[in-house]
Amino acid sequence: MRHVSTVWRAGAFAVLAPTLLSSCLIRALSSSSPTLVAQDIPAGFDFPADENVLLGHVYSENRQAIREHAWNIWAGLTQQSRSTHNGNPLPIWETWYSATEVFEHRYKTSTEPAPRRTFTRHLEIPKQSVHKTSSRNEISAAVMSFVKLNQPAAQFIWDNNYYLRSALDDLNARFNENHTPVEQRQIKPLPRTAVALKIVFWLIKNSDSPQSEEGLTALPYWDPNYPPPPDGQTPTHLTWPKCVAVDPAGRYPVGSKQQVTCNGRSGVEAEVVRLNHFYTSRLTTKEDVENARYFMTVLSGAGGEQERFVTNQGRIPELNDYIVLCAMHVTTKEMDNWTFQTFWWSPTPDAPPYGDFRTPNVTGVWRNYQMCTAYSMVTPRTPTGSPHICFNPYLETDLGPTKPYAVGSRSYPPDPMAGTRSNCMNCHMRAAWPAPTPTNPANDGYIPPHYGGLATYVKTDFLWSLVFHSQPQKGK
Ligand code: HEC
Repeated sequence: MRHVSTVWRAGAFAVLAPTLLSSCLIRALSSSSPTLVAQDIPAGFDFPADENVLLGHVYSENRQAIREHAWNIWAGLTQQSRSTHNGNPLPIWETWYSATEVFEHRYKTSTEPAPRRTFTRHLEIPKQSVHKTSSRNEISAAVMSFVKLNQPAAQFIWDNNYYLRSALDDLNARFNENHTPVEQRQIKPLPRTAVALKIVFWLIKNSDSPQSEEGLTALPYWDPNYPPPPDGQTPTHLTWPKCVAVDPAGRYPVGSKQQVTCNGRSGVEAEVVRLNHFYTSRLTTKEDVENARYFMTVLSGAGGEQERFVTNQGRIPELNDYIVLCAMHVTTKEMDNWTFQTFWWSPTPDAPPYGDFRTPNVTGVWRNYQMCTAYSMVTPRTPTGSPHICFNPYLETDLGPTKPYAVGSRSYPPDPMAGTRSNCMNCHMRAAWPAPTPTNPANDGYIPPHYGGLATYVKTDFLWSLVFHSQPQKGK
């Protein structure tokens, strides 16, 4: 059963993390390429913005200004970098450090990743996934998800030894000894220019493959109007009833309707879209394919935590297949509580509210992604008065069901839809070492710096990756 709940799921796997995540299996999707140089968001994209200006937007609930800022960040990190792969310029975010480089390489080599880096997609797989089988889908398709950090974030983690669990343990011991008040039980804050990402890709079959459907690959997409799935299931991409038909070879008229198998249902009418609707890369070498296959096999039932690699039934990566960007989380340290924005592919990217106020500096394929923001745990409130919601359909919809809980005399049953009511900042506020054991449901409004639930922990400045990727002390 894959139903660990919310942070509570994060909490659950954090318990396992020290022993299991340390031995993450790492493969690169591709390796031969010129030097890769980490580049930052260039000037001209309102980054880093002044915290007071951003807080002004938050307090005045200026949705337009917040969204414009988020789109500017998106425009900035998707600019072309000077680094290339297979002769193609990489967007800036592709030059950033993977969690593997930041935590494991540094741990193993005691130096920063070598100045000469080559382009790889490091995919980190929590080992517990290997033994899990999703109740819903035995083998599933290519959602590859991983974490990346920009240079200032990576450098800060190296400089402070936060890639080592022992550094976090030592801090915690000191806080315990000194009876440090909970609001001060935290690592040093990351620099204002720090940015972290979490990324999801999907496998698209090459059109000549018999695994394609007459050249097409179905890709389920999120529609905010989907009703809750039956039987108390969480609404993941495996339950979404609608798909587009991705047509890499351009065999069908764009916008025409073709029949594909969408989440196990055959004959579903799906609109044809081309690869130029996505940020795409191709599996061009034997090594690419082997690695992608390996991940698919190992991760066949990897539901249950956020780094998933799941696919349409029966699809296996082959030479000349494509991976397309489905989703990206972006968080920046411009504010103390970080700015949170998340982007996902949509066939109707301009539709309100998630297409609103997209700035003209977002160009090309990058305009096909929708976005929401969480610059506050509370505002702007939903029409029913609940705390602000922002989730990525590819990453958070399976956060339920929450555990049942009671407030006073009122009790609340398990909620499979909790992910669709979650708020990034509310969950990331609880990022702490070692493994918090949360008792609250997701998205319960403002969590203050003196939140008692973390009284015996070190808060990791909103970064969960420190909790899950930090490494054992050398020699221990
Ligand atoms: C219920 C908890 C939860 C919610 C809600 C949540 N996240 Fe996360 N997030 C995590 C966990 C756990 C990880 C760690 C994954 C890893 O390191 O492999 C993470 C990782 C990340 C990372 C990588 C950097 C890091 O170390 O934290 C980013 C960026 C991120 N999330 C952004 C977001 C955004 C944006 C949203 C809202 C749209 C969001 N998250 C909602 C739990 C959550």
